[in-house]
Amino acid sequence: MPLRRLEISQFGGPEMIRLVEDAALPQPGPGEVRIQVEASSLVFTDMLIRRNLYPVLKLSLPLTLGYDFVGRIDALGAGVTHWHIGDRVADLIQLGGNATHLVRPADRLVAVPQGLDATRAEPLILSYMTAYQALFREADAKPGDSVLICGASGAVGMAALDLCRAFGLRVVGVASARREPVVTSLGAAFVAYDGPDAAGKLDRLSQEVGGFKVIVDAARAESLAAAMARLAPQGRLVALGFSAAFRNAYKAGDDSPGVFARLRFALDFLRIKWLSSRPGSSRRVVFYDISGRRQRHPKEFADDLVTLFTLLEGERITPRVQRAFGLTDAVEAHRLIESGQVEGRLVLDLMLPTGGGSSCDVRDESNPRNKDS
Ligand SMILES: NC(=O)c1ccc[n+]([C@@H]2O[C@H](COP(=O)([O-])OP(=O)(O)OC[C@H]3O[C@@H](n4cnc5c(N)ncnc54)[C@H](OP(=O)(O)O)[C@@H]3O)[C@@H](O)[C@H]2O)c1
Repeated sequence: MPLRRLEISQFGGPEMIRLVEDAALPQPGPGEVRIQVEASSLVFTDMLIRRNLYPVLKLSLPLTLGYDFVGRIDALGAGVTHWHIGDRVADLIQLGGNATHLVRPADRLVAVPQGLDATRAEPLILSYMTAYQALFREADAKPGDSVLICGASGAVGMAALDLCRAFGLRVVGVASARREPVVTSLGAAFVAYDGPDAAGKLDRLSQEVGGFKVIVDAARAESLAAAMARLAPQGRLVALGFSAAFRNAYKAGDDSPGVFARLRFALDFLRIKWLSSRPGSSRRVVFYDISGRRQRHPKEFADDLVTLFTLLEGERITPRVQRAFGLTDAVEAHRLIESGQVEGRLVLDLMLPTGGGSSCDVRDESNPRNKDS
């Protein structure tokens, strides 16, 4: 059986993605397992990696895309005793998940309940984990707290809205005007960043609640001073993403952002990291980095992923998967992500017939996964 995977050998646009076939499957070494991948990421972060704009990862080419995966163990390396063939597992890996098979160290994996659909479980690893840890680990949100989510219609933003609903937080979501129905359907008040007087509306909403206890910012659209002024006295602004900055850099239709746009990204990133490292002040900016936090707290990551799987099993959360794609349609998926056409999540579904073929909406009955759910 060949290994099929999505590779780039040059940084750039979606057209850089190639479906590559290797004749032999990788073999697990001591302490490793091989996994047949069921589902993997197709998210904004994969696109940043493809364009070499991802701030916290040194990349070398060629590389296989795919920030995370859910799959089933199909070979054990020497000395692995706590996993068995057929066990379902998940991991956050940054690179390499967009493949039919991969090899991982056995002790990094988290068990996935057998009954969960892979395309619904996969969004929990990066998108939901980011939202969960931003809200509850970085900002210590509690039921009843007022929360503002900037970038509310994206993968992380919708996960955050879903979690706020599940945990009884009061939430305001910011996204473009066309996203109002989806944001309000998740129980949030809504402000359109491209509507009239967006900043004034946010200021007034903040005053009504005595300042937001938590702001989760996936967009970085406003000055830090304006955003911080909307925090409650002990509030936390968790900065985690740069969607708006990216869109601004590309809005001229250039295929790659200019030196100044890159410099702006870099300076903003460094400033937030610096502010984040300063102890003390009552209103604080915190920079969240999922991989860095996992490195510092590996057990916490595994515990939180188990919590998220349990919430999904109990139907307390509902990941919104707009569409599942096969391997051969990944270029189309990346184009959709870049054009801002995605509401919630896209997922790479490795269990579609031939591992590719035609793309397939998860709501479409021709997708075998829909028949289970
Ligand atoms: N730090 C970490 O560990 C971590 C982990 C995961 C993701 N991230 C980052 O978080 C960011 C979001 O990821 P994602 O997967 O959710 O991306 P996404 O699905 O592309 O979502 C982007 C969101 O940003 C919104 N947006 C764009 N311009 C905006 C503006 N001017 N004001 C307010 N919102 C605006 C979009 O709204 P409309 O579509 O309505 O315009 C959309 O809701 C990315 O930068 C990603 O790399 C970081």
